[in-house]
Amino acid sequence: MSEELQKLKTAFHTSLEKINSTIELKELENEYLGKKGKLKEILAGVKDLSIEDKKTIGVAANEMKNQFISSIEKKAEEIEETYFAKIESEETIDVTIWYPSKNLWHKHPISHTTELLEDIFISLGFKIEDGPQIEDELHNFDKLNIPDNHPARDVWDTFWISDDINAERKSGDKYLLRTHTSPVQIRTMLSQELPIKIIVPGRVFRYEQEDARHTCNFYQLEWLVVGEGVTFGDLKWTLDTVMKQLLGEKTELRFRPSIFPFTEPSAEVDVSCQICSGKWEKAGKKCSMCSWTGWVELLGSGMVHPKVLEGCGIDPMKYSGFAFGMGIDRIAAQRFGVSSSRMFYQNKLKLNEQF
Ligand code: PHE
Repeated sequence: MSEELQKLKTAFHTSLEKINSTIELKELENEYLGKKGKLKEILAGVKDLSIEDKKTIGVAANEMKNQFISSIEKKAEEIEETYFAKIESEETIDVTIWYPSKNLWHKHPISHTTELLEDIFISLGFKIEDGPQIEDELHNFDKLNIPDNHPARDVWDTFWISDDINAERKSGDKYLLRTHTSPVQIRTMLSQELPIKIIVPGRVFRYEQEDARHTCNFYQLEWLVVGEGVTFGDLKWTLDTVMKQLLGEKTELRFRPSIFPFTEPSAEVDVSCQICSGKWEKAGKKCSMCSWTGWVELLGSGMVHPKVLEGCGIDPMKYSGFAFGMGIDRIAAQRFGVSSSRMFYQNKLKLNEQF
């Protein structure tokens, strides 16, 4: 038996010497150490030996196995070193060569705007959260104080996922493409400790008649702050700070009273249209971005409704919060002077290449 082992060792090393590629090395490894490898065969035979031989041969065979493994590893390193040494000696890099560093790629205006917004919010101490695009009815509607049959469901008409697909999920739950990033408010309040200070950038869907400002698919940025003593004044301050950083000091904001089932009181906020500078007309044409009003609706906001807080196990007598839902596409259109946010989804490189 030990003679056999000796032979095996010699054969292994003779083969190893000749190897100079990773593929061959892998083959050798299989041949000796694989499931049906030569060493395995010997180890399998150990059980039929006398107790004495079992000890000596068994130990020797195991030692050999370890030796084989380390020899193979060493060889692998050698092969790699030789490979890189060859590349180094054959290839040269001419650092003086001209390289077209500009205009090779462009970030999509929406990604660019999202990143810009994230930076502003991170500087104000917000955390970034994420949530599923295929959402359940509970988080998208019910927990936001929009029960079935509530008229507000019409405003957020969406694409429902068919019943067959529902069946694969939890029976009884209805799934849909989320109509806003607000369900992530619920997910966060249910799972995180107070105080909460988050933003949620993400893709949302609506069943829409498309025009210059409406698309079936767009991006929102949700902001949520919940803690003790959060007021409407905090809401206004945060909005003012963010908008001035984003669109410039001269940006004007307009608050309009509004209704959202999940905030009370609620407000919609418009910014002065940056496309026509509030003049309703640009180059003799009526401005389609602001529908000739000089203002563009940017976001919905309000103080988190006590029912919503309660539904997430937060005591509304002790805690309060504010929330915003902002259209990133519209901000991008305003920032880059694009007159229709629909253009962002037409995959025209000519548009991207301008930014
Ligand atoms: N989710 C609302 C929408 O999509 C916007 C919103 C968010 C309003 C948070 C108030 C508070 O229209």
